[in-house]
Amino acid sequence: MTERGRLIVLEGGEGAGKSTHARAIQAWLEQGGREVVLTREPGGSPLAEAIRGLVLGDWPEGIDAATEALLIFAARAAHLHALIRPALAQGKDVVCDRFVDASYAYQGAARGLGPEAIASLERLTLGSLRPDLVLLLDIDPQQGLQRARRRGGENRFEAETLEFMHKVRAEYLRRARAEPARYAVIDAGLPQEQVAAALLSELEARL
Ligand SMILES: Nc1ncnc2c1ncn2[C@@H]1O[C@H](COP(=O)(O)OP(=O)(O)OP(=O)(O)O)[C@@H](O)[C@H]1O
Ligand SMILES: [Mg+2]
Repeated sequence: MTERGRLIVLEGGEGAGKSTHARAIQAWLEQGGREVVLTREPGGSPLAEAIRGLVLGDWPEGIDAATEALLIFAARAAHLHALIRPALAQGKDVVCDRFVDASYAYQGAARGLGPEAIASLERLTLGSLRPDLVLLLDIDPQQGLQRARRRGGENRFEAETLEFMHKVRAEYLRRARAEPARYAVIDAGLPQEQVAAALLSELEARL
């Protein structure tokens, strides 16, 4: 039987550098002889990307927290079904730009749905699957938002308040500290080369 691949997740607030560093992680794993699937959430499969468009869209009536959480978990279920579970079963490593921790941080903490609501959606959607390693790119929200705004293409989340972003950051850090074996916290406020080096040294130490 093929050994299951590993699920490696990049997390962090807006502009932390998740998308910037995803390819370096893929390259590092491939150099080690692994087959790697690089993907992102919300999205990652055709159906899930369509749901992403709904979640990130600007709707006249707004989107309440429950709708947002349910759409994101619907996208996650579709993504798991179409891409993540088959890849892991084939022994491929999956590198995912955001995953379930983002729901705890954004919808659970910052939007105020609470951890129990997210945990029940997590049970429904993931079953017993958990990321093997979560790389948390931790950044001061103001610095992250500045980076994201310089990059352009602002979305609904980047338009949120700093208070919202501080809640996101605090919840990510709380979850990382509660389970240090599965989470690595990286100072994402540093220059890009230093963040990349810190990420790769965590991968070397942990995988
Ligand atoms: N360490 C760094 N120092 C300076 N600029 C950086 C650093 N890391 C990334 N950037 C730049 O900051 C911007 C945001 O980075 P990136 O898009 O990777 O963030 P992200 O975490 O994927 O954000 P989002 O949550 O909005 O998807 C990009 O323009 C990127 O080039
Ligand atoms: Mg990104």
